[in-house]
Amino acid sequence: MKDKLLFYERENFYELKESKGVEGYEILSITDFIRENDLAQVLDYNTKIIDLTALATYVQIQYIAEGLLRLFDDSTIFISDKKHKEVFKYELRYCFQEFKDIDALGFKDHLEDDINLEKSSSEKIKHRKIIDLTEEELGDFFVKLRDSLYGHEKFKDEFYELVKTFRIFNRIKEHKILSLFLLGESGVGKTEVARTIYRCLGGQKKIAQVNFGNYSSEFSLSSLIGSSRGYIGSEDGEIFIRVRDTDIGVILIDEFEKSNASLFNYFLDVLESGKIISSLAEEINLNGFIIIFTSNISKQDFPLKISPELRSRFDYKGQFTLLYDEDKEKYVEFRVNNIMSKVNMEYEIQLPDNLLEYFLNEIDVSKFTNMRDLNKKIKRTFVDYIADLKSSTTEYEDITSQSKVSIGRKLLNAFKL
Ligand SMILES: Nc1ncnc2c1ncn2[C@@H]1O[C@H](COP(=O)(O)OP(=O)(O)OP(=O)(O)O)[C@@H](O)[C@H]1O
Ligand SMILES: [Mg+2]
Repeated sequence: MKDKLLFYERENFYELKESKGVEGYEILSITDFIRENDLAQVLDYNTKIIDLTALATYVQIQYIAEGLLRLFDDSTIFISDKKHKEVFKYELRYCFQEFKDIDALGFKDHLEDDINLEKSSSEKIKHRKIIDLTEEELGDFFVKLRDSLYGHEKFKDEFYELVKTFRIFNRIKEHKILSLFLLGESGVGKTEVARTIYRCLGGQKKIAQVNFGNYSSEFSLSSLIGSSRGYIGSEDGEIFIRVRDTDIGVILIDEFEKSNASLFNYFLDVLESGKIISSLAEEINLNGFIIIFTSNISKQDFPLKISPELRSRFDYKGQFTLLYDEDKEKYVEFRVNNIMSKVNMEYEIQLPDNLLEYFLNEIDVSKFTNMRDLNKKIKRTFVDYIADLKSSTTEYEDITSQSKVSIGRKLLNAFKL
């Protein structure tokens, strides 16, 4: 059910259109959506208001509206010409909880109040979610994901299928949260998966991340969801702060096995109800979110540590293994290019193209079983490289002073070595 249908007076329409236009809203007629239902699912309800007036011209108003309106996000604003108020109040009685007039004089404020009210409720915080992407954006998302996450091909294939299914079943209200449980040894890239998904969804802030390694005490549930008012430390729980602060509908719960039974039960509820509820009964709706749980436990320990009820609720359980050597080499290449462009940006020094060769000669990737160690080795190799350059005679055109300086000298100066 949608919240409310707002009725405007016909003579106020253009004023309404203009004032909402200034705020970045566009008013669209429902007719477009009757012709093409799919449009409703990709509608950006932050910038569009839907006018239902045209529904009045149909014979089967109730039938059409009930099928169509549930495709719209619950936060969408619906309006109609007041002329049809009595008809709509009856025909749309299963679609809206409330029918409200926006009166001639104060209608701007009225609508404003409604919108502000919605915004003040934490449930209406806007997160970009995988279910909101158009098919084209989804395609781009997967291209980016495949490019920026090295290896883990099987996971990437399975994740693709999962997301497709999730988007469909979320629309018919059967599947609220997509939950992934990633197992694997330290440094194989479990946390990186969550971060990459966040970035590929266009994240500009910080992923909502809670590390359960810090949560093994008896007070853990209150740290997570806050404690009742009146008690010391009745501030917000960490998960609420993190979810409010992020811009993307992805939550990362690291080291999940370190938590305790009360937290396990809490997450059982979250996956079931699709929302987080604080100790002060504040709710954040997580419909359409992806929650990624990571853990270092072995496959054998997984059933021992995590209850069957919870296990069966994860949509995906995957064992992450170390990348193949060729993927590790791709990672080295990525890091070297990354270092080269940063040095170029910071110091206007163009490092030679054969730098990658140098790294691949110096680093035997097969020796590394933890990507963090490989990363450290890459950093060390770069330091060695600069040291080697001390004796280098390679000349390079200095853009600023037009003189010939060796790259080595320039780098040593830049890094004050
Ligand atoms: N497939 C990958 N693609 C790109 N970078 C990766 C990949 N795997 C790991 N890395 C890099 O390796 C480092 C370690 O990875 P990450 O933190 O994801 O490990 P983890 O499996 O979560 O380990 P832990 O269990 O100790 O938390 C990160 O800095 C990450 O950038
Ligand atoms: Mg991790």
